Amino acid sequence: MATIKDVARRAGVSVGTASHVLSGKVPVSDQLRKRVEKAMAALDYHPSHIARSLSIRRTHTIGIVVPDITNPFFPQIIRGVESVAAKFGFSTITFNTDDQVDREREALSFLRSRRVDGILLVIAPGRNDGSHIKAIIKAGIPVVCLDRLPRSISVDSVSVDNFSGAREAVQHLISMGHQHIAIITGPLSLKNARDRVRGYKSALREAGIPSSAERILEGDFREETGLRISRDLFISGRQRPSALFVSNNLMALGALQGLSELGLKCPDDFALASFDGFIFPDVFRPTLTTVVQPAYEIGVRGAEILLQRLNGELKSDPLHIELSTELRIKESSLRRFNKVPT
Ligand code: RIB
Repeated sequence: MATIKDVARRAGVSVGTASHVLSGKVPVSDQLRKRVEKAMAALDYHPSHIARSLSIRRTHTIGIVVPDITNPFFPQIIRGVESVAAKFGFSTITFNTDDQVDREREALSFLRSRRVDGILLVIAPGRNDGSHIKAIIKAGIPVVCLDRLPRSISVDSVSVDNFSGAREAVQHLISMGHQHIAIITGPLSLKNARDRVRGYKSALREAGIPSSAERILEGDFREETGLRISRDLFISGRQRPSALFVSNNLMALGALQGLSELGLKCPDDFALASFDGFIFPDVFRPTLTTVVQPAYEIGVRGAEILLQRLNGELKSDPLHIELSTELRIKESSLRRFNKVPT
């Protein structure tokens, strides 16, 4: 494999001149630069990233850790991160933890051993004391948490106003005449899932509608859970809800499938509002009401904060950016409800 010395020799210049052409930090005459570039091409020379990293103590690499790469919500975040990383000459390494804290711990350990310059993290649900996150921050690797805020760790973060987004969606269902509204929540170990339940309860309370524990069903943000919970809810002897507020995209799709298997139609037999947004929102029939999260922007803002930390532009205490959501009302909740649920 050609080295910078081989390039200098072939171009008939000093190693220093060849290095200056490579780094671009020291001006070199056009004539000499062209000779060096010609030699690089002829030798198929690629600078050693590892050697360069050791010399500048930077790898120009960012780690991204997400809990479910199969959920379309997360690739949108990753795209936002990568758009900023590419602009500033950083590459990225993405890990999927499959909602497992142990996998998250392993991912952070791997990224630390690869000396990434910083990490953007969406934490896994479950018992997560965050000791592995604290350790990596203590080791001098900046972390920005996206979308989900860890308990008891003060760290830069970018998320959305989950409470207001959920409250607005349930207020809409109430405005359509629904009094019996159930919520399928995300994992309640996560603050964003709990905040959506708070928004749901707040909307009911403000409308004078009592909330009952049997209408608050804990899910896990996965499709099969949405299917199971919604089916159990509607076949049990309990009073059926007339509307469902589902706390994320995949569980909402699962709920639609589960209830259609019971012969129930949306919005004829039940209204539905969900959270996250959908990649192809109007491909579904009925089109689905959802609280859209600016996932791409979450990634962009998180990456920007991380790079500002890296470049020493941010000396403040941890920043907590909270973006707004947007309620998009579609066919799944637009049928006014008049009858008492069976
Ligand atoms: O759909 C995935 C869910 O997990 C989203 O609601 C997002 O907020 C993430 O926390």
